[in-house]
Amino acid sequence: MNEIVYLNGSLIPRNKAFISVLDYGFLYGFGLFETMRAYGGQVFRLEHHLSRLAHSAEKLGLPIGAPALKGAVMDTIQANKLSEARIRITVSIGEGAMAPDPSTCNKPTVLILAERYKPYPEKVYQKGFRAVVSSIRRNSQSPLSKLKTANYLESILARQEARAAGVDEALCLNEKRLLAEASMSNIFLVTDGILRTPDEESGILPGITRRTILELASQLDIDTLEQDIRLDELSQAKEAFLTNSLIEVMPLTEIDGKPIGSGRPGPISKRLMAAYKKLVFTEEKMI
Ligand SMILES: Cc1ncc(COP(=O)(O)O)c(C=O)c1O
Repeated sequence: MNEIVYLNGSLIPRNKAFISVLDYGFLYGFGLFETMRAYGGQVFRLEHHLSRLAHSAEKLGLPIGAPALKGAVMDTIQANKLSEARIRITVSIGEGAMAPDPSTCNKPTVLILAERYKPYPEKVYQKGFRAVVSSIRRNSQSPLSKLKTANYLESILARQEARAAGVDEALCLNEKRLLAEASMSNIFLVTDGILRTPDEESGILPGITRRTILELASQLDIDTLEQDIRLDELSQAKEAFLTNSLIEVMPLTEIDGKPIGSGRPGPISKRLMAAYKKLVFTEEKMI
Protein backbone atom coordinates (compact mmCIF):
# COMPACT_ATOMS: atom_id res chain seq x y z
CA MET A 1 0.00 0.00 0.00
CA ASN A 2 1.09 3.56 -0.73
CA GLU A 3 4.57 2.40 -1.66
CA ILE A 4 5.05 5.38 -3.93
CA VAL A 5 3.53 8.73 -3.08
CA TYR A 6 3.36 11.99 -4.98
CA LEU A 7 4.73 14.90 -2.97
CA ASN A 8 5.17 18.39 -4.42
CA GLY A 9 5.87 17.32 -7.97
CA SER A 10 7.84 14.10 -7.34
CA LEU A 11 6.95 10.43 -7.08
CA ILE A 12 8.93 9.06 -4.18
CA PRO A 13 8.90 6.08 -1.81
CA ARG A 14 6.56 6.71 1.12
CA ASN A 15 9.32 6.34 3.70
CA LYS A 16 11.28 9.12 1.96
CA ALA A 17 8.35 11.56 1.91
CA PHE A 18 8.48 14.30 4.54
CA ILE A 19 6.41 17.39 5.27
CA SER A 20 7.59 20.41 7.24
CA VAL A 21 6.74 20.57 10.96
CA LEU A 22 5.53 24.11 10.18
CA ASP A 23 3.03 22.94 7.56
CA TYR A 24 -0.28 24.71 8.20
CA GLY A 25 -2.21 21.61 7.21
CA PHE A 26 -0.69 19.91 10.25
CA LEU A 27 -0.58 22.92 12.60
CA TYR A 28 -3.93 24.51 11.78
CA GLY A 29 -5.88 22.19 9.51
CA PHE A 30 -5.48 24.73 6.70
CA GLY A 31 -5.94 22.31 3.86
CA LEU A 32 -8.33 20.40 1.64
CA PHE A 33 -8.64 16.86 0.46
CA GLU A 34 -10.44 14.62 -2.00
CA THR A 35 -11.03 10.90 -1.72
CA MET A 36 -11.66 9.10 -4.97
CA ARG A 37 -12.07 5.58 -6.24
CA ALA A 38 -10.41 3.99 -9.25
CA TYR A 39 -11.92 1.10 -11.17
CA GLY A 40 -9.68 -0.74 -13.62
CA GLY A 41 -7.04 1.97 -13.12
CA GLN A 42 -9.47 4.81 -14.04
CA VAL A 43 -10.63 7.31 -11.44
CA PHE A 44 -14.39 7.69 -11.46
CA ARG A 45 -15.41 11.35 -11.93
CA LEU A 46 -11.84 12.60 -11.50
CA GLU A 47 -12.71 15.90 -13.21
CA HIS A 48 -15.57 16.47 -10.76
CA HIS A 49 -13.29 15.86 -7.78
CA LEU A 50 -10.65 18.20 -9.17
CA SER A 51 -13.17 20.91 -9.87
CA ARG A 52 -14.61 20.64 -6.31
CA LEU A 53 -11.05 20.89 -5.01
CA ALA A 54 -10.28 23.91 -7.21
CA HIS A 55 -13.50 25.63 -6.19
CA SER A 56 -12.83 25.03 -2.47
CA ALA A 57 -9.20 26.15 -2.88
CA GLU A 58 -10.37 29.38 -4.45
CA LYS A 59 -12.69 30.01 -1.51
CA LEU A 60 -9.82 29.56 0.94
CA GLY A 61 -7.35 31.55 -1.17
CA LEU A 62 -5.22 28.46 -1.57
CA PRO A 63 -3.29 28.52 -4.87
CA ILE A 64 -3.24 25.02 -6.35
CA GLY A 65 -2.53 23.93 -9.89
CA ALA A 66 -5.64 21.77 -10.21
CA PRO A 67 -5.17 20.90 -13.94
CA ALA A 68 -1.70 19.45 -13.29
CA LEU A 69 -3.14 17.25 -10.56
CA LYS A 70 -4.91 15.05 -13.09
CA GLY A 71 -1.64 13.70 -14.46
CA ALA A 72 -0.20 13.45 -10.95
CA VAL A 73 -3.12 11.28 -9.81
CA MET A 74 -2.75 8.94 -12.78
CA ASP A 75 1.03 8.77 -12.32
CA THR A 76 0.57 7.82 -8.64
CA ILE A 77 -1.87 5.03 -9.53
CA GLN A 78 0.45 3.69 -12.21
CA ALA A 79 3.58 3.95 -10.05
CA ASN A 80 1.84 1.74 -7.50
CA LYS A 81 0.51 -0.62 -10.23
CA LEU A 82 -3.02 -0.22 -8.91
CA SER A 83 -6.27 -1.12 -10.57
CA GLU A 84 -8.98 -1.00 -7.88
CA ALA A 85 -7.84 1.84 -5.66
CA ARG A 86 -8.59 4.48 -3.09
CA ILE A 87 -6.84 7.73 -3.92
CA ARG A 88 -6.48 10.75 -1.71
CA ILE A 89 -5.25 14.18 -2.76
CA THR A 90 -4.34 16.46 0.13
CA VAL A 91 -3.43 20.07 -0.43
CA SER A 92 -2.38 22.39 2.37
CA ILE A 93 -1.40 26.03 2.25
CA GLY A 94 2.13 24.88 3.10
CA GLU A 95 4.82 25.94 5.51
CA GLY A 96 4.55 29.24 7.38
CA ALA A 97 5.47 31.09 10.56
CA MET A 98 4.72 29.35 13.86
CA ALA A 99 2.03 31.87 14.81
CA PRO A 100 -1.03 31.52 12.56
CA ASP A 101 -0.39 33.87 9.64
CA PRO A 102 -1.23 32.35 6.25
CA SER A 103 0.45 35.30 4.50
CA THR A 104 3.75 33.68 5.51
CA CYS A 105 2.92 30.52 3.52
CA ASN A 106 4.48 30.72 0.07
CA LYS A 107 4.06 27.30 -1.44
CA PRO A 108 1.20 24.79 -1.04
CA THR A 109 1.99 21.23 -0.08
CA VAL A 110 0.46 18.67 -2.46
CA LEU A 111 0.35 15.02 -1.45
CA ILE A 112 -1.28 12.14 -3.32
CA LEU A 113 -1.68 8.72 -1.72
CA ALA A 114 -3.08 5.64 -3.41
CA GLU A 115 -3.70 2.15 -2.11
CA ARG A 116 -5.60 -0.94 -3.14
CA TYR A 117 -9.30 -0.68 -2.37
CA LYS A 118 -11.24 -3.72 -1.30
CA PRO A 119 -14.97 -2.98 -1.38
CA TYR A 120 -17.38 -4.20 1.27
CA PRO A 121 -18.59 -7.73 0.51
CA GLU A 122 -21.92 -8.04 -1.30
CA LYS A 123 -23.62 -9.31 1.87
CA VAL A 124 -23.04 -5.94 3.56
CA TYR A 125 -24.94 -4.24 0.71
CA GLN A 126 -27.73 -6.83 1.00
CA LYS A 127 -28.10 -6.15 4.70
CA GLY A 128 -27.42 -2.42 4.63
CA PHE A 129 -25.80 -0.10 7.17
CA ARG A 130 -27.14 0.61 10.63
CA ALA A 131 -26.75 4.12 12.00
CA VAL A 132 -27.27 6.18 15.13
CA VAL A 133 -27.93 9.89 15.36
CA SER A 134 -24.74 11.65 16.38
CA SER A 135 -24.50 14.30 19.08
CA ILE A 136 -22.36 16.30 16.63
CA ARG A 137 -24.12 18.91 14.54
CA ARG A 138 -23.22 20.26 11.12
CA ASN A 139 -23.15 24.05 10.98
CA SER A 140 -24.71 25.26 7.77
CA GLN A 141 -23.42 28.77 8.51
CA SER A 142 -19.79 27.74 8.93
CA PRO A 143 -17.41 29.17 6.31
CA LEU A 144 -16.14 25.61 5.96
CA SER A 145 -19.56 24.21 5.14
CA LYS A 146 -19.57 22.54 1.68
CA LEU A 147 -15.75 22.30 1.69
CA LYS A 148 -13.87 19.04 2.15
CA THR A 149 -11.28 20.49 4.49
CA ALA A 150 -8.50 18.94 6.52
CA ASN A 151 -10.68 19.80 9.55
CA TYR A 152 -12.19 16.32 9.56
CA LEU A 153 -12.25 15.84 13.31
CA GLU A 154 -16.00 16.29 13.72
CA SER A 155 -16.62 13.56 11.18
CA ILE A 156 -14.14 11.28 12.90
CA LEU A 157 -15.73 11.92 16.31
CA ALA A 158 -19.18 11.23 14.87
CA ARG A 159 -17.87 7.98 13.35
CA GLN A 160 -16.43 7.03 16.75
CA GLU A 161 -19.90 7.47 18.25
CA ALA A 162 -21.17 5.00 15.67
CA ARG A 163 -18.41 2.54 16.52
CA ALA A 164 -19.14 2.91 20.25
CA ALA A 165 -22.80 2.13 19.55
CA GLY A 166 -21.76 -0.94 17.53
CA VAL A 167 -23.18 0.37 14.24
CA ASP A 168 -21.75 1.45 10.90
CA GLU A 169 -22.50 5.15 10.58
CA ALA A 170 -23.60 8.23 12.49
CA LEU A 171 -26.06 10.75 11.12
CA CYS A 172 -25.49 14.44 11.72
CA LEU A 173 -28.29 16.95 12.08
CA ASN A 174 -27.52 20.60 11.51
CA GLU A 175 -27.91 23.53 13.90
CA LYS A 176 -31.63 23.73 13.01
CA ARG A 177 -32.08 20.06 13.96
CA LEU A 178 -32.66 19.18 10.31
CA LEU A 179 -31.06 16.14 8.74
CA ALA A 180 -27.73 17.01 7.07
CA GLU A 181 -25.60 13.98 6.20
CA ALA A 182 -23.76 11.05 7.72
CA SER A 183 -20.27 11.32 9.19
CA MET A 184 -18.61 10.41 5.90
CA SER A 185 -21.43 10.17 3.39
CA ASN A 186 -24.55 11.88 2.06
CA ILE A 187 -28.02 10.60 2.78
CA PHE A 188 -31.08 9.93 0.62
CA LEU A 189 -34.51 8.67 1.57
CA VAL A 190 -37.58 7.58 -0.31
CA THR A 191 -41.12 8.59 0.65
CA ASP A 192 -44.17 8.29 -1.59
CA GLY A 193 -41.90 7.11 -4.40
CA ILE A 194 -39.91 10.39 -4.29
CA LEU A 195 -36.17 10.37 -3.73
CA ARG A 196 -35.29 13.08 -1.24
CA THR A 197 -32.00 14.42 0.05
CA PRO A 198 -31.04 17.40 2.23
CA ASP A 199 -30.26 20.42 0.08
CA GLU A 200 -26.79 21.88 -0.37
CA GLU A 201 -27.50 24.67 2.11
CA SER A 202 -28.12 22.25 4.98
CA GLY A 203 -24.47 22.02 6.04
CA ILE A 204 -23.51 19.03 3.92
CA LEU A 205 -20.55 18.29 1.73
CA PRO A 206 -22.04 18.34 -1.79
CA GLY A 207 -20.90 14.84 -2.66
CA ILE A 208 -19.81 13.85 -6.14
CA THR A 209 -21.73 10.60 -5.66
CA ARG A 210 -24.79 12.52 -4.45
CA ARG A 211 -24.77 14.56 -7.67
CA THR A 212 -24.32 11.40 -9.77
CA ILE A 213 -27.28 9.75 -8.03
CA LEU A 214 -29.50 12.77 -8.67
CA GLU A 215 -28.54 12.60 -12.37
CA LEU A 216 -29.19 8.86 -12.54
CA ALA A 217 -32.55 9.26 -10.79
CA SER A 218 -33.63 11.78 -13.38
CA GLN A 219 -32.59 9.41 -16.19
CA LEU A 220 -34.61 6.65 -14.52
CA ASP A 221 -37.67 8.91 -14.16
CA ILE A 222 -37.47 8.85 -10.38
CA ASP A 223 -38.74 12.14 -8.96
CA THR A 224 -36.22 13.91 -6.73
CA LEU A 225 -36.36 16.67 -4.16
CA GLU A 226 -33.46 18.50 -2.53
CA GLN A 227 -35.03 20.03 0.55
CA ASP A 228 -35.18 20.38 4.34
CA ILE A 229 -35.75 16.97 5.93
CA ARG A 230 -36.64 16.30 9.57
CA LEU A 231 -35.32 13.29 11.43
CA ASP A 232 -38.81 11.86 11.96
CA GLU A 233 -39.28 11.87 8.18
CA LEU A 234 -36.30 9.54 7.92
CA SER A 235 -37.77 7.19 10.54
CA GLN A 236 -40.99 7.07 8.53
CA ALA A 237 -39.30 6.68 5.14
CA LYS A 238 -39.86 3.57 3.03
CA GLU A 239 -36.17 3.29 2.23
CA ALA A 240 -32.91 5.16 2.66
CA PHE A 241 -29.31 4.95 1.53
CA LEU A 242 -25.93 6.59 1.98
CA THR A 243 -23.49 7.62 -0.74
CA ASN A 244 -19.81 8.37 -1.08
CA SER A 245 -17.14 7.73 -3.66
CA LEU A 246 -15.90 4.56 -1.95
CA ILE A 247 -19.07 2.83 -0.78
CA GLU A 248 -21.09 4.06 -3.81
CA VAL A 249 -24.73 3.44 -2.78
CA MET A 250 -25.11 1.73 0.59
CA PRO A 251 -28.63 0.95 1.84
CA LEU A 252 -29.39 2.38 5.28
CA THR A 253 -31.74 -0.07 6.94
CA GLU A 254 -31.77 0.87 10.61
CA ILE A 255 -31.66 4.07 12.60
CA ASP A 256 -31.28 4.16 16.39
CA GLY A 257 -32.20 0.47 16.58
CA LYS A 258 -35.42 0.81 14.53
CA PRO A 259 -35.82 -0.50 10.98
CA ILE A 260 -36.27 1.94 8.10
CA GLY A 261 -39.17 0.70 5.95
CA SER A 262 -38.99 -3.08 5.74
CA GLY A 263 -35.49 -3.03 7.27
CA ARG A 264 -34.11 -4.28 3.96
CA PRO A 265 -32.77 -2.46 0.88
CA GLY A 266 -35.74 -1.01 -1.01
CA PRO A 267 -36.55 -1.19 -4.74
CA ILE A 268 -35.49 2.37 -5.61
CA SER A 269 -32.22 1.93 -3.72
CA LYS A 270 -31.58 -1.28 -5.65
CA ARG A 271 -32.29 0.36 -9.00
CA LEU A 272 -29.87 3.17 -8.22
CA MET A 273 -27.22 0.79 -6.92
CA ALA A 274 -27.39 -1.10 -10.22
CA ALA A 275 -27.47 2.10 -12.30
CA TYR A 276 -24.42 3.45 -10.52
CA LYS A 277 -22.48 0.22 -11.12
CA LYS A 278 -23.49 0.31 -14.77
CA LEU A 279 -22.35 3.93 -15.12
CA VAL A 280 -18.99 3.16 -13.53
CA PHE A 281 -18.57 0.23 -15.91
CA THR A 282 -19.52 2.32 -18.95
CA GLU A 283 -17.23 5.23 -18.07
CA GLU A 284 -14.35 2.86 -17.33
CA LYS A 285 -14.68 1.39 -20.83
CA MET A 286 -14.93 4.81 -22.46
CA ILE A 287 -11.63 6.20 -21.14
C1 LIG B 1 -18.88 14.43 5.35
C2 LIG B 1 -19.01 13.82 3.99
N1 LIG B 1 -20.15 13.98 3.31
C3 LIG B 1 -20.33 13.44 2.09
C4 LIG B 1 -19.34 12.68 1.49
C5 LIG B 1 -19.55 12.09 0.13
O1 LIG B 1 -18.77 12.73 -0.83
P1 LIG B 1 -18.36 12.08 -2.21
O2 LIG B 1 -19.61 11.50 -2.81
O3 LIG B 1 -17.83 13.20 -3.01
O4 LIG B 1 -17.34 11.03 -1.93
C6 LIG B 1 -18.13 12.51 2.17
C7 LIG B 1 -17.05 11.73 1.56
O5 LIG B 1 -16.13 11.29 2.17
C8 LIG B 1 -17.97 13.10 3.44
O6 LIG B 1 -16.82 12.97 4.12
